Amino acid sequence: MATETKSAEQAGRAPLRVKVARVVEETADARSFVLDVSDDTLRSELTYRAGQYVTVEIPWESFHIHRCYSFSSAPGVDAQPQFTVKRVAEGRMSNALIDRVAAGDTLTLHPPAGRFTLDRDAGMRPLSLFAGGSGVTPIFSLLKAALRETRRPVRMLYANRDAASTIFAAQLDALAQEHAGRFSLRHHHDDAGGFLTAETLADWLRGAPESGRGSDHYVCGPTPFMDAVEAALQSVSVDDGRVRVERFVSPADPDRRDTEPAQTPTSGTGEVPEDFLVTLGSSIRRVPYSRSLTLLGACKAAGVKAPSSCEDGFCGSCMCQLVEGDVAMLNPLALTDSDVARGRVLACQARPTSGKFLHVDFDAVSFRAGGDGDAMTPPLSASRAALVVSLCVGAALLVRWLHAVI
Ligand SMILES: Cc1cc2nc3c(=O)[nH]c(=O)nc-3n(C[C@H](O)[C@H](O)[C@H](O)COP(=O)(O)OP(=O)(O)OC[C@H]3O[C@@H](n4cnc5c(N)ncnc54)[C@H](O)[C@@H]3O)c2cc1C
Ligand code: FES
Repeated sequence: MATETKSAEQAGRAPLRVKVARVVEETADARSFVLDVSDDTLRSELTYRAGQYVTVEIPWESFHIHRCYSFSSAPGVDAQPQFTVKRVAEGRMSNALIDRVAAGDTLTLHPPAGRFTLDRDAGMRPLSLFAGGSGVTPIFSLLKAALRETRRPVRMLYANRDAASTIFAAQLDALAQEHAGRFSLRHHHDDAGGFLTAETLADWLRGAPESGRGSDHYVCGPTPFMDAVEAALQSVSVDDGRVRVERFVSPADPDRRDTEPAQTPTSGTGEVPEDFLVTLGSSIRRVPYSRSLTLLGACKAAGVKAPSSCEDGFCGSCMCQLVEGDVAMLNPLALTDSDVARGRVLACQARPTSGKFLHVDFDAVSFRAGGDGDAMTPPLSASRAALVVSLCVGAALLVRWLHAVI
């Protein structure tokens, strides 16, 4: 899903043509689309992990629009993959899918992607899941996978406007009964309890048998809900590396899409570096830079396989640490305020804003540092952290010196 201005074919990616086996009415405003993957090739191309999303493409006026929808199914639990769509007022794709797609129709899909997945090395670390409205879709998928594949204790807080708009309510309640003692579920309905506040959420976190700090936290829902959850997690001192968020946003329309951030001088005569350094897969490479490319674009042009998926700033797959240098980002939707404060950047959105030495490190991002490329790493002890920081500073100084003399 590189850009809305190109069709899948023009974008050089093979779209999948997948038949809809069934459409399930979940609530008045939400439908699940169950996919027919009886064909072996198709099934293998649609192999996914719980929590990932699929991208749907439809023609719209003079262009194609692409929207991501998270799987609400889980591999190994549900026989067929399914995604669930909630109607957005005036939204183009959501209304088109809900009103016009029926069993037997064929959809154009792009292969599964996303990093909102369970850490394979989490052991028995407890899970806390926060879902608001349609944000329940990837959370439901993660929950089913965690209950089936692990013995981890799971708590879930699920907020909705009211009982009638609660997607998967009966299935969630049944899971809570089936796994009583291991999975606890709390529903919140705004019509009865008002909007959830950061204080209420922090109280819920403190109520866990293990401190909320020792858990992995997954958050998906409307922006005010996510803001409240993130504030609550901060107030009980949860480590950022233990928090994953999925933001449900639409990419910008092609006719509104800027190509460069306003503050970036790369389109003019401002200085840009001739090259920059990339730490990836435990090695450091020098990547030539051409004016106006994003860091990800430059990596691709140089054959450096930096991680990426949406290329639109919302999936977070290309997140890396800015070790040194100046960059600006166009659309850093996947970054939280604390990511930005820690110097995280999205390679697909970042361009240099000066000719200064530039170095980005993909290995330094915690969710990618755990071996399988998708793990949350436990926080380091203070002494180990000090040692690691000293080694990193030493390595960066050495790299910088080499860059200057070579
Ligand atoms: C990783 C990921 C996973 C997701 N998973 C899910 C999921 O599981 N389920 C789900 O329901 N959604 C999910 N989403 C959200 C989904 O991709 C869409 O963003 C959502 O369905 C809205 O798309 P739309 O085309 O219907 O609305 P859009 O047409 O994109 O409109 C969105 C909003 O913008 C407004 N708007 C549109 N055009 C204009 C205009 N010209 N001027 C002013 N305002 C305008 C609309 O009124 C609407 O409020 C996910 C998003 C991401 C990034
Ligand atoms: S590739 Fe998705 S945010 Fe950069």
